[in-house]
Amino acid sequence: MLKSKDFLSISDLTPEDIRRLISAAVAMKAEGWSSRLSEKILALLFEKPSLRHRASFEVAMRQLGGQCIYLSPAEVGMGQRESIADVARVLSGYVHCIASRTFSHKTLEELSKYSRVPVINSLSDLEHPCQAMADLLTIYEKKDGFEGLTLAYIGDGNNVANSLILAATMCGINFRMASPAGYAVKDNIINIARDYAAGSGSTIFFTADPRDAVTGADIVYTDVWTSMGQESEAEKRRQAFAGYQVNSELLSLAREDAIFMHDLPAHRGEEVTDDVMDGPQSVVFEQSENKMHMLKALLMDLLGGLEMGQADYR
Ligand code: NVA
Repeated sequence: MLKSKDFLSISDLTPEDIRRLISAAVAMKAEGWSSRLSEKILALLFEKPSLRHRASFEVAMRQLGGQCIYLSPAEVGMGQRESIADVARVLSGYVHCIASRTFSHKTLEELSKYSRVPVINSLSDLEHPCQAMADLLTIYEKKDGFEGLTLAYIGDGNNVANSLILAATMCGINFRMASPAGYAVKDNIINIARDYAAGSGSTIFFTADPRDAVTGADIVYTDVWTSMGQESEAEKRRQAFAGYQVNSELLSLAREDAIFMHDLPAHRGEEVTDDVMDGPQSVVFEQSENKMHMLKALLMDLLGGLEMGQADYR
């Protein structure tokens, strides 16, 4: 089991948790359906739109024999119609786990404080830890482990980048990031990542030049330039990130066997071109499928207690 009741951040995990969860996700992916979480109910409490997370949480719970209820922002009015603390207290009486997607990370922390059941971060402005875990599963499958790998992240220092730098450095993956001035990952996250890198032996490198980041990389990763909640900055961001598109010319600087990753949804023609998204190096749809497999492992860990071996983890 995780050391914390909740999964709000990659920092809630240890390297050992990551090994166990990947091992479990690989095993459950091969196994398919089971009834391990029968009589368990998950609430999805979302303030923002979602395709992958809503669908993959629902499918994950069904494949494990459990059930899901979806609560839309309009129905709940978290923090407006009713306090976050009271929403947490009420739901704790009905369900066994809450997965929440919020604008502010503070909302998740408040939910966690008052909830008697585990709370999972299904994306906040600060982190997207379930995504990073699905990404690690995809990298593990594609690259047969993590040792010696270099991941180049091109673009905004957002929620996805924050979780990814923490996850990569915890697992010994070298992390390079290229972003325009003012859009890098913030110092508080970098400081944690530096500690993880010191423990795992990985390196961290920041640059303004995408070519410096991508040259010789094993993994090239990007995300949207404008995240949900930042729509008013879209034009300013389009200008700032103009030279940061992942196109075939940039990707050609990576290793020949490099993979291209994106958490989706992609803004095709902005941060990534169609030929890269749909090209032979792209693993973006494997990433989205792996989210469901990783969520099964996380739900099992938080709700049922995983007791699976680590034989196939390297
Ligand atoms: N950074 C993006 C991720 C979407 C899954 C956002 O927050 O909108």
